[in-house]
Amino acid sequence: MITLTVIKADIGGYVGHSSMHPDLMAHGREQLEKAKGRGLLIDFHVTRCGDDLELIMTHDKGEGNDRIHRLAWDTFMGCADCARKLKLYGAGQDLLSDAFAGTVRGMGPGSAEMEFEERVSEPVLIFMADKCSSGAWNLPMYKIFADPFNTIGLIIAENMHEGFSFEVHDVKEHKKVTFNTPEEIYDMLVLIGAPSRYAVKAVRHRPSGEIAAVSSTDKLFEISGRYVGKDDPVLIVRSQGKFPAVGEVLEPFAFPQAVEGWMRGSHFGPLMPVGLAQANPSRFDGPPRVICMGFQLSGGKLVGPVDMFDDPSFDEARTKANRAAEYFRRHGPFEPHRLPLEEMEYTTMPQVMKKLQGRFSAL
Ligand code: F6R
Ligand code: MG
Ligand code: MG
Repeated sequence: MITLTVIKADIGGYVGHSSMHPDLMAHGREQLEKAKGRGLLIDFHVTRCGDDLELIMTHDKGEGNDRIHRLAWDTFMGCADCARKLKLYGAGQDLLSDAFAGTVRGMGPGSAEMEFEERVSEPVLIFMADKCSSGAWNLPMYKIFADPFNTIGLIIAENMHEGFSFEVHDVKEHKKVTFNTPEEIYDMLVLIGAPSRYAVKAVRHRPSGEIAAVSSTDKLFEISGRYVGKDDPVLIVRSQGKFPAVGEVLEPFAFPQAVEGWMRGSHFGPLMPVGLAQANPSRFDGPPRVICMGFQLSGGKLVGPVDMFDDPSFDEARTKANRAAEYFRRHGPFEPHRLPLEEMEYTTMPQVMKKLQGRFSAL
């Protein structure tokens, strides 16, 4: 069995919240190279999306392993020190605790992990988003694994015809429920159509029960009880064979769906699929971005990556995203560009209401 672990954190932005300084990535690579040298990791790849550092690691230690999580935590701490030296913006912002306590869960960084038997050929796709909240994967996961208008394999591939099961998390009440598709899609959509509350955590192949996809559903806002950043989630998807083809997995991103997370984590905007070089959200700190790195696994080695959205076939999606961005921006401080009051991560509501106390009268 091999374990594929992706752990990410915003440990300091360059410039502002738009991108990542090369020194931080170099420190990340150095630390993971050492861990590979002492046999803790089989392989790794360090990348970034916007201002988030992404540690992609393979090993044989299983999910939630404290040595792997400590490695990520210590690496982020070291990167945060580099960020402080350079006076980068928001240095260490996602590291919410001073002391490591077993796993990074609940401590600020986001994580997605899966353990599986590597197949004869094992293509994996890793999606990473910036200026985006954790429920953003609900729509693409639904389309990839339950919508035959996206994934023709559900209809014509014998090994996919029985469908997939979805593990859905209630991110506010910390409960989970599993749905079988296709027969339960109407019930499931009642929940996952509300991505600020319900997030698809994992998808499994029926009837083998094999893991097909895992997302990070960590909500920074909920963790800290105050604004510290955006979830900027990651998603791992296994592809081909009994899982959707690479093209079926990428296809939903041709539609730049509206997601939460733009400017001050308080605005809706289109999720723009981009190649790595374009993952530097700048206009109004956005619009939100998603990148995808594709690998073939070989005995746990990460062969790759291919920068999957660095492809002119996604130009039209980027154009649509820019048009949608312009449409949203023209709403200025009005909904539905701005999030509903209770969802905003910055608010002056308490001060304003205090000031207006005594000035309200009955209608
Ligand atoms: C960060 C983000 C940004 C910031 C904004 C203000 O993920 O969404 O839009 O919220 O740049 O940042 P602060 O308050 O850190 O100056
Ligand atoms: Mg940031
Ligand atoms: Mg970010």
